[in-house]
Amino acid sequence: MDVTVVGSCNMDLSTYAPRFPKPGETMTGHKYVVGFGGKGANQCVSAVRLGCKTAMVGKVGNDDNGNRTIDNFKSNGVTTDYMTITDQSSTGVAAITIADTGENSIVIVPGANLLLTAVDVTAVEDLIKGSKVVVCQLEVGLSATLETLRLARKHNVRSIFNTAPAQSGLSNDFFVLSDILCANENEAEMMTGLPVSDVAQAVTAIGVLLDKGCRYAIITLGEKGTVFASQENKKPTYIPATKVKAVDTTGAGDSFVGSLAFYLATRPDLSFEKALQRSSIIASISVQSPGTQYSYPWRKDLQPELFE
Ligand code: RIB
Ligand code: NA
Repeated sequence: MDVTVVGSCNMDLSTYAPRFPKPGETMTGHKYVVGFGGKGANQCVSAVRLGCKTAMVGKVGNDDNGNRTIDNFKSNGVTTDYMTITDQSSTGVAAITIADTGENSIVIVPGANLLLTAVDVTAVEDLIKGSKVVVCQLEVGLSATLETLRLARKHNVRSIFNTAPAQSGLSNDFFVLSDILCANENEAEMMTGLPVSDVAQAVTAIGVLLDKGCRYAIITLGEKGTVFASQENKKPTYIPATKVKAVDTTGAGDSFVGSLAFYLATRPDLSFEKALQRSSIIASISVQSPGTQYSYPWRKDLQPELFE
């Protein structure tokens, strides 16, 4: 396997409105889309569309959304042999509002995702061992994420720990066991206790994240670009973002993480910086059209230079 993702699957119910409603307000939106989402699923689909062998480890309910989620993985070419179905809870859903500015706000009801725990991950140890890159986030049972990082480290497999959604009070193990930690502004703030809203602040926060023990730390700042550093080279590198008109930024971070996993798994000849640059270009394409997975490009739609 090139990329294995251990993570969440949701049905995304996206409503497009001029702006976010105020508390107590009823307002009229102009579009409604039901699509496949969940940070883990998005990252997996983003990677597979670029052209690599990809497996998803996740849990859905024994319901229509769950069946559709698994079918969606299959039609994208993702291996679903490691997906599990539970009778104990329903498939995760996300109620998303997207304002005309392209910004979003999301309420998730995780359901079956939270029932994905360390036991499920231990059961797929061989899959993890045989993968080039393993990706995890914080939208499933925390023990599942930690076990993923532990097994990846045990078998010397490269791991990407995407610290989304933001969570405070993560135990040290998450950092020490992460090969590559990837955080957005909010998450970086929550984990470092520092303000992170511009490049200079991200540069400071990167140092704090590295001190917590990950080998590489990446902070994504949306349209302001990306900053990264590593234990070997602690001096942060800044990668500017391509300027685009954002229509819907939902899942852009997942597109970035999935693309990075693709590049690290299939293009070990590329520098880390180049892999990040290309991933950020692909994520910037996803914000220019509506929806989460709907907006993720396939390899055939991308400029060949991204694969040279
Ligand atoms: O990162 C975007 C994702 O967050 C959405 O697809 C939604 O399901 C939530 O998990
Ligand atoms: Na989009």
